[in-house]
Amino acid sequence: MLSSNLLRSVFPVSSEWVFSCIKCGSRQYCQKPFKKLTISDALSTNALGSNIRIQGWVRSVRSQKEHLFLHVNDGSSLQPLQVVASHDLNDRGLTFGSAIDVSGSLEKSPSGKQNVELHAKQIQVTGKCDPLEFPFKIKERHSLEYLRQFPHLRCRTNVFSALLRIRSEATSAIQSFFKDNGFIQIHTPVITSNDCEGAGELFQVEPAGKDKQQDERDPHYFSVPTYLTVSGQLHLEVMAGAFPAVYTFGPTFRAENSQSRRHLAEFYMVEAEISFTESLEDVMAVMEHLFKHSTEHVLTHCAEDVDLFHKFVAPRHRGQVDLMLSRKFNVISYTEAIDILNRSSQIFTFPTKWGCDLQTEHEKYLVKHCGNIPVFVTDYPYDLKPFYARDNQDHPRHTAAAVDLLVPGVGELCGGSLREERLEVLRSRIIQAGMEDAYEWYLQLRQFGSVPHGGFGMGFERYLQCILGVDNIKDVIPFARFSHSCLL
Ligand code: 4AD
Ligand code: MG
Repeated sequence: MLSSNLLRSVFPVSSEWVFSCIKCGSRQYCQKPFKKLTISDALSTNALGSNIRIQGWVRSVRSQKEHLFLHVNDGSSLQPLQVVASHDLNDRGLTFGSAIDVSGSLEKSPSGKQNVELHAKQIQVTGKCDPLEFPFKIKERHSLEYLRQFPHLRCRTNVFSALLRIRSEATSAIQSFFKDNGFIQIHTPVITSNDCEGAGELFQVEPAGKDKQQDERDPHYFSVPTYLTVSGQLHLEVMAGAFPAVYTFGPTFRAENSQSRRHLAEFYMVEAEISFTESLEDVMAVMEHLFKHSTEHVLTHCAEDVDLFHKFVAPRHRGQVDLMLSRKFNVISYTEAIDILNRSSQIFTFPTKWGCDLQTEHEKYLVKHCGNIPVFVTDYPYDLKPFYARDNQDHPRHTAAAVDLLVPGVGELCGGSLREERLEVLRSRIIQAGMEDAYEWYLQLRQFGSVPHGGFGMGFERYLQCILGVDNIKDVIPFARFSHSCLL
């Protein structure tokens, strides 16, 4: 076991950490699971004069008369750590993009730009990088579109590593929102036999090399055709029959033939389902609180990273975010939305007749009309919504208790509804659609202890686009999949 002094000299950040490492050696509970000093730790420590070791990638190299100055980043923070080295520690491998391992003493920095700097005693180049071949150039600000060509390397840029830290923090914020509000997390399946949205945008799942294995009597691996999920809703509805409130947050797939700035073939969806609720307002309240809680959390915990977006990617977007947080979201009915569109002087490409689906151009207009504050549009035409949406049984304009949340810059962020909980009403709709065999189990949920319930789904990437002001959805996901493109 290492002595506490030795540990203290290697990992001087906090006594709690040192103490827990000693505990770990004696097989007790360890508060830090691995003993690595990150650059974020080094920048925030006040243990000046101690010897530390850091590992990371060189972001800039500046050679001056006496010293060499390196900026090293390891992805733990936006800020790099400045390393000051004598020229004799340099070898030709200390270039932009190379991976290095540095030991030295942490000192107060004389410059106002950073609090601390590392005075190197030893530098090892772990992985060389030829700056002429490396697709990113020192001091150049590459466009997000350019970075997209290098999905395997773009995480090494400031902007994309900031995005990934924000994504990770937003994920935690969403999880904590649901946990704090009594929702149970359900891992809904990725492979499923149903098309929840009924839109036919499905990726089918069968074993590769199927021809060789095909059994004529049972041509499908799972006996029935199966697909990658388009939504976890129906599985959440199963669980809403046993819990007060449930949620899921996972990968979702749509075989949409779209190259648009807001569609992916694989995206992440946050979905919630609340039992014993008869009001769309309850569902809308969860959507609004989820949005505001998560955004406030991200603004607080990733302030520097978010600022980078609001400074360089979408200047002045911060004002838009603050506006969304400070104001109550608007609510209008679909019928009112159509009236607003028809009164507008704007010429739309798509029709704005009652009964037509709202297109992105309509959604954007409606949000602007509402002062760039998010707006819930409720009670859509019955025929536009999937079979599960609750029938409002109104006349002559027949609507369903469905709601979309429209937000600035993006359009539709969330889609939800009350679910049809009445057995006979649901049965007749399912029969009309010729789906009674596949949805017998779904009808049974209404047969045995059915309760009024409702829920919604929020596209996680669209959420990130909305708070960061990122125009293209492909720039807010680690690896983008969309039609005709799956680079790695
Ligand atoms: O409106 P959608 O299709 O609703 C559902 O799937 C419901 N079953 C959810 C529920 O009630 N549990 O999708 C929900 C959200 C959309 O509002 C949008 O933000 C996002 O998912 N979304 C996409 N995001 C990226 N790429 C795509 N192809 C998307 N399709 C939907
Ligand atoms: Mg929708």
